[in-house]
Amino acid sequence: MRSIVLGTSAFYNGDCISGAAEHIPDDSVDLIVTDPPYGINGDKLHQHYNRKEEFVVEGYVEIPQAQYADFSLKWIKEAERVLRPGGSIYIVSGYTNLVDILVALRQTSLKEINHIIWKYNFGVFTRQKYVSSHYHILFYEKPGGKRTFNLESRYGLVEKTEDDRSLNNWDREDVWVINREYKPGKLKNKNELPMALLIKMIQYSSNEGDLIGDFFLGGFSTAKAAIGLNRRTTGFEISKPMFDAKIKEMKTIKPGYLMPKLRTPLIDNPKNPGKPWTDQDLKFLGDEYRRLSAKKLAKKEIIAQLGNQLGRGRWAIEKALKKIEPSIRKETGKKTLLEFF
Ligand SMILES: C[S@@+](CC[C@H](N)C(=O)[O-])C[C@H]1O[C@@H](n2cnc3c(N)ncnc32)[C@H](O)[C@@H]1O
Repeated sequence: MRSIVLGTSAFYNGDCISGAAEHIPDDSVDLIVTDPPYGINGDKLHQHYNRKEEFVVEGYVEIPQAQYADFSLKWIKEAERVLRPGGSIYIVSGYTNLVDILVALRQTSLKEINHIIWKYNFGVFTRQKYVSSHYHILFYEKPGGKRTFNLESRYGLVEKTEDDRSLNNWDREDVWVINREYKPGKLKNKNELPMALLIKMIQYSSNEGDLIGDFFLGGFSTAKAAIGLNRRTTGFEISKPMFDAKIKEMKTIKPGYLMPKLRTPLIDNPKNPGKPWTDQDLKFLGDEYRRLSAKKLAKKEIIAQLGNQLGRGRWAIEKALKKIEPSIRKETGKKTLLEFF
């Protein structure tokens, strides 16, 4: 089986069942995010997504429906073996062969955490029935270790919507509304997952440096998201044309490229509560405030970043900013964010 190593990641052009058995040690993967073929005649997939064939990479390999149950059990058993105790797995599935995946999961030690519904835009047009516009995401864990779940990785527990509802709770509901991406003029797999969906799973269920596996790389989107978030990654793609086309693109992906695009959650568990401010703290606050406001970040975002850096809560930061406001105003002569307090 051909393998390509890029930085701290390794990709294999071949079958994931025999490939994992040969290349991936027991208990070594922190998180698996994967999207197996759906067993619904892959050659026709483009019709479902209303796409032009010319930009779709040939070679998507489907599994005949008659073999789907057996195939699912075999790869899921391999996934169970390679996950570390406490590791998590997200399996994206349509509804047609969902039953085979659920039955296979029941034959392993993996335990259900959530059954997530991913709702996307532009379902396939129908006249005589409802329009299908969702996938299932089966979120399971391997028992026996501590599972990573980064509760405040995207929204702090104190963050509220304008009508006073918890943003953190909203982000963690089990129905996710995330649109598919359009990539006109770009080579793609017939069924690429949106980056926003992958980023969400990876942020909640892994940390920087963790190893993320994908048994069905397709367009390598899980791998791109993982590398973009400073994780290591590994995976398999059986199709040679797909593998070759995407490996070329992977060579251009920079580790951590997604990090600056992530929002900073506002986390209100200060390390230095009540500690008196020194002149040095106030100078740092002023300097950082100027730097962040020059980047034209939103008020909430600036306060969140300052709070996280100084180990102080939101109110402490707002109070200290008020204190230094006159000097900032004098210096910049501009209307500042502080006007809004
Ligand atoms: C649904 S697609 C994955 C799409 C991918 N998540 C993305 O976002 O681009 C499934 C992929 O699995 C590949 N595949 C099918 N059988 C396989 C096998 N036994 N081992 C590895 N890959 C396989 C197909 O060629 C296809 O590219």
